[in-house]
Amino acid sequence: MRGTGRAARSEQKAARRAAKPPLTIAFGNQKGGVGKTTLVINLAAALMRGGRITTVIDLDPQKSAERYGEHRAQETGEEAPVVVHGSADNLKDMIETAHLEGVEAILIDCPGALDRTLLLAAACADVVVVPTRSSLLDRNSLRDTLEFLVEAVKIHKCLVVLNAARDGADGGIREVEDLADTFGAVLAATRIEDNRAYSVSLGKGRSVLEGAGARSKPARAIDQLAREIETFHEQAAKAHKRRQK
Ligand SMILES: Nc1ncnc2c1ncn2[C@@H]1O[C@H](COP(=O)(O)OP(=O)(O)OP(=O)(O)O)[C@@H](O)[C@H]1O
Ligand SMILES: [Mg+2]
Repeated sequence: MRGTGRAARSEQKAARRAAKPPLTIAFGNQKGGVGKTTLVINLAAALMRGGRITTVIDLDPQKSAERYGEHRAQETGEEAPVVVHGSADNLKDMIETAHLEGVEAILIDCPGALDRTLLLAAACADVVVVPTRSSLLDRNSLRDTLEFLVEAVKIHKCLVVLNAARDGADGGIREVEDLADTFGAVLAATRIEDNRAYSVSLGKGRSVLEGAGARSKPARAIDQLAREIETFHEQAAKAHKRRQK
């Protein structure tokens, strides 16, 4: 009978996977310290948990993501997600190779700069995540980043994500919403709170899903953001197809 047994289950699993198009996400913001690497590491864990074979490509000369991968392997013995360092010049080849190897989600960690690396990463990506905090200085960098991305790629690919944002005397979240709106970029409904669990787990070579537990608030926020990015990608791809007709 069809639909029972191990073969049928693996068939269903393959079908579920096939239903999800491969996803490449670049993470960029001119400003350092806004949480690009933190989101890369944690979202990679959430995408793996959702059944995707996941690779992180670290394009930052600081090699924070690559070093995390090494630290993770030492601390936990875990080799996944694979984290590889590379340069913008070989990014296309790295992505092609990853696809040939069956990788279903690629997360690209970019340096805190508006440079050729971000340009090429954004061009290769299905979604460009722009993490941002919300102070005046953060908003100034967000404006520069969105200006750069509007020129470089279609803004419908860009998803601004509030990370560790706080309303303060110099304004805050409302101003970030307005800024995203001005550039026609989408602001993610999921916000990532300022929570030391993100840095504590990272220090132990673990994502927050492992470090604080999959049911913890910070882990659920990451999981929700991963699903939001997947949906955002699916909708953006559909809208793109409609425009081509
Ligand atoms: N939501 C959060 N809550 C608490 N701490 C956070 C959060 N997000 C990031 N951090 C902390 O902020 C610091 C900077 O984060 P991260 O290294 O991810 O930023 P980045 O944008 O990758 O910086 P760079 O451009 O220098 O690579 C780290 O110490 C990290 O643990
Ligand atoms: Mg970083």
